Amino acid sequence: MRIIIESDAAAVAVRAATRVADLIRRSPGCVLGLPTGRTPLGFYGELVRRHEEDGLSFSRVVTFSLDDYIGLPPHHSASFAAYMRRNLFDHVDMDPENTHVLDGGAEDLLVACESYEAAIREAGGIDLQVLGIGSNGHIGFNEPGSSLGSRTRVKTLTRETLEANASSFEDLDELPRLAITMGVATILEARSCLLLALGEEKALTVRDMIEGPITAQAPASALQLHPDVTALLDEGAASRLQRRDYYRHRS
Ligand code: GLP
Repeated sequence: MRIIIESDAAAVAVRAATRVADLIRRSPGCVLGLPTGRTPLGFYGELVRRHEEDGLSFSRVVTFSLDDYIGLPPHHSASFAAYMRRNLFDHVDMDPENTHVLDGGAEDLLVACESYEAAIREAGGIDLQVLGIGSNGHIGFNEPGSSLGSRTRVKTLTRETLEANASSFEDLDELPRLAITMGVATILEARSCLLLALGEEKALTVRDMIEGPITAQAPASALQLHPDVTALLDEGAASRLQRRDYYRHRS
């Protein structure tokens, strides 16, 4: 795994956006896997800025969102589909046909999961999967205990995740208990992964992901099995890494 430590969140956002912008310029029809959460907000802001100021075009880019809640009305502001529209899709020249989101409102969730996997295959696979990490080590909504061989499916959310995400809901009774997420194995099939983590509150989770054992109890640790992963961290998120000096000296 390549570890890059930047001074702060803004520098992480710029570096992540540069990686994606370079890929889009090289390969305008590339396929991106995209996360939600607070962490990638700066990154999306930077992509929008590059679209507006530098003419970065998303017209042929294909995207797959990582996950979404189950049971929210389609236009609910806390849905990840709404998040993607609000933070990226509505501000760039993306073709709506190319933006795939998981449908947590599907009548048959099993069929929705299988068609998502099929759509990824038909698009030729994901070139770059961008990821955040949950405080409990989840990627997407692959909560601790998720099979490292899992595919897109329904997951029950843990109490920690519900608490971490509660602020997006005005009415806590609306907080979904279930989510639909790409599986760990689905994520590992991407050609490259770029994981973003910010802040000291993620430091122990980040250490487990990078330096801990590979275990379903810390699903992000499965990224150690992938040949092309970059973890892009700010100082806070990197602060508990034991081999921090080595990562710095290497990059
Ligand atoms: C969310 C998403 C993840 C995201 C994580 C961290 O619930 N399912 O894809 O990476 O939790 O979110 P944040 O960046 O807000 O800490």
